[in-house]
Amino acid sequence: MPTIMAARRKLEHVPPARIPLIQTPTPLHRLDRLSRELGVDLWIKRDDLNGLAMGGNKGRKLEYLMADVLAARAEVVVTCGAAQSNFIRQLGGACAMLGLKCAAAIMPLPFDVEPPADQPQTGGGNLLLDSLFGVDLRFHPNGTWDDLYSQAEALALEYEALGARVYRIPVGGSSPLGAYAFFEAAKELDRTFDTIVFASSSGSTHTGLAYAFAGTQTRILGIACDPEPEIAEDFALLAPGLTALAPGGPIFTASDYDLDFRHVGPGYGIPSATGDAALKRLAQTEGILLDPIYTAKAFAGLLDGVARGLLVGRILFWHTGGIPALFAT
Ligand SMILES: Cc1ncc(COP(=O)(O)O)c(C=O)c1O
Repeated sequence: MPTIMAARRKLEHVPPARIPLIQTPTPLHRLDRLSRELGVDLWIKRDDLNGLAMGGNKGRKLEYLMADVLAARAEVVVTCGAAQSNFIRQLGGACAMLGLKCAAAIMPLPFDVEPPADQPQTGGGNLLLDSLFGVDLRFHPNGTWDDLYSQAEALALEYEALGARVYRIPVGGSSPLGAYAFFEAAKELDRTFDTIVFASSSGSTHTGLAYAFAGTQTRILGIACDPEPEIAEDFALLAPGLTALAPGGPIFTASDYDLDFRHVGPGYGIPSATGDAALKRLAQTEGILLDPIYTAKAFAGLLDGVARGLLVGRILFWHTGGIPALFAT
């Protein structure tokens, strides 16, 4: 787009509506003991402490998504996810705060690549909190993600048949509004970093941060928690929508995403040995907890990158939450 047009669109730009649901800015602090051990300048951004329904990255997305739900005058919000979905838990909390009904189609562990037979236990943890928030949980046997999306649509239609106004939110809250939340979140950083590392799955955290730092020296490195390399194509589907919300930036394609797939372990939703070791290392050097499905794997990727000399200088680990999954039974 010609520069003058881009500048004009930027001037005319009205940011999307947001309602406050979380405590921001989330804490940003140095990890002194681990920095010393690793020989790097390691920092952490504590979205695990944002205060919405036990914290996590979905809180930021929900500030924009729930504003849109209210604007649509919806009465019921329908989504879907795995049994230990952190998104459903935080959405349940947000709906409770706003007096809305939340309903979710759930599979213990949906898949694209079939998971190994020895699946972890998926009860308790987030599911317990979902039920405390009064989420209408509809359980289905394991199947593909597409099967789960069909079940979510059937659930939305069921509520509509009862006369309710329904708002549908995609898995993980990954829509352009969700990505915009992380585009804005970057403004909370008060110093520059060589690399920002975080867990990446449905793509809005990654897309928002990558847009915020496009054209800078900061590397935005997502550690994939899903095994399929095609997820980058799904991430790129968010890009045009985010450009519409935050005009003037680039439009990313799949190859623009810096994703490391080497730390997924046995599969999506299944803890890994290196993730569990990384979880213990951070807990025992800094007293900070990670979750076994997302952040532990991302932290394992960070430790591996440092050990191999690929990550140097000032590194930020963006903690995206997920702690209730530690209590899955
Ligand atoms: C704790 C945690 N970290 C990271 C992610 C990945 O975030 P995104 O879905 O925006 O890629 C998720 C998503 O489910 C999550 O629950």
